Amino acid sequence: MSVLIAPSILSADFAALGEAIAAAERGGADVIHVDVMDGHFVPNISIGIPVVRSLRRVAHVPLDVHLMITDPDRYLEAFAEAGAAMISVHVEVLPHLHRTVQAIQALGLQAGVALNPATPLAALEQIAGDVDHVLVMSVNPGFGGQTFIPRSESKVREVRALLDRAGSRASIAIDGGIDHQNVARVVAAGARVIVAGSAIFHAADPERATRDLKEAARAGLSAPVPR
Ligand code: DX5
Ligand code: ZN
Repeated sequence: MSVLIAPSILSADFAALGEAIAAAERGGADVIHVDVMDGHFVPNISIGIPVVRSLRRVAHVPLDVHLMITDPDRYLEAFAEAGAAMISVHVEVLPHLHRTVQAIQALGLQAGVALNPATPLAALEQIAGDVDHVLVMSVNPGFGGQTFIPRSESKVREVRALLDRAGSRASIAIDGGIDHQNVARVVAAGARVIVAGSAIFHAADPERATRDLKEAARAGLSAPVPR
């Protein structure tokens, strides 16, 4: 698998999401990352089901919905019906994570599990063989434009090792504070889906920023693994 770029529209102009997505797609976006926040699990409120439905009409690439909400089970069907291709849920809010992952897959979607920076890897141990991807949060979720937490790089490496031990081919996505400077390192560590918000949509030219980020990410594929 090569590296996929997943622009996060959280940092785009919400009055012009169609244009933001079109620019990212021209730049080579592989997936559009949609951040859903409920003001409970994270201290911010963003967008929800009707916006996903509208984005589905204009996006040509799959929508990856990142649910930062306390009760994701309640809304899985609605997000699937609205057009999500993938849903990521946080392990921190789910006592029955296995059931949730199965419910997402039963809807025909790819299931991802997300780990906050302070959440230990052990949370993945029993679910590794069932998930389609693992989303490693490299900032505390809730806001775009935060600084990458350096420890996340070795966490990606540890998640990859855990998945390999479990015989899982799940991919690792990384989300938070990714830019042109650090992207190659996280790819070298094992990340294969790069979520980026401000590095793309706060750039003067989001199309170009997407293209440049992809190129910088690909450089990480051939880089020697940094220690
Ligand atoms: C943070 C969100 C991220 C965010 C990333 O809670 O999950 O997807 O949009 O934004 P940047 O790339 O600016 O850190
Ligand atoms: Zn996100």
